[in-house]
Amino acid sequence: MKRLIGLKKTRSAVFISGTGSNLKNLIKFSIKKNSPISIKIIISNNRKAKGLKYSDQYKIKKKIINFKNQKHAETKILKILLKKKINFICLAGFMKILSKNFIKRFKGKIINIHPSLLPKYKGLNTHAKVIKNKEKFSGCTVHFVSTKLDSGKIIMQKKVKISNKDSVFSLKRKVQKKEYKIYPEAIKKVLI
Ligand code: GRF
Repeated sequence: MKRLIGLKKTRSAVFISGTGSNLKNLIKFSIKKNSPISIKIIISNNRKAKGLKYSDQYKIKKKIINFKNQKHAETKILKILLKKKINFICLAGFMKILSKNFIKRFKGKIINIHPSLLPKYKGLNTHAKVIKNKEKFSGCTVHFVSTKLDSGKIIMQKKVKISNKDSVFSLKRKVQKKEYKIYPEAIKKVLI
């Protein structure tokens, strides 16, 4: 609690590729007094990402980066992050795999949210796989990003119960509700 007094917010970036509901949730969190982050830039590899609308809505700068050449893309991103003095990165539905060099450069400072109870169901289409395997539980995980996909140290997890009526769609909704809770909590855990 003490550390919240005179808290200097960590200059952060959020990387997205799609809808951006976690981005929106993180922005709302970041403007609270007791949040340890201030979001200074939104980065997307996809100019059509719906979540980019939150840039205008909340007056946060955005950059769209073409990933055709990953090395160039990451060099560009790095420049932007240095210029903006970014010290913390939240991946929120970012669909590109960052290089080892990039990840090492921000070791301990990049986190991600994944829609499963890691280490189970790494990678894509988690909800479909979970339903297909008739799992009783699923959930979400916030973890540090390491050089291996969805394998970095776990910061926080939340479980949801699956009923036999659940579809991929309903499970996604259930899990996302939990995501909006734990992403901010995990950020506090890391930074405060
Ligand atoms: C989330 O479910 C997250 O777990 C995964 O991608 C999804 C992004 O959703 N990494 P949104 O773009 O935040 O709505």
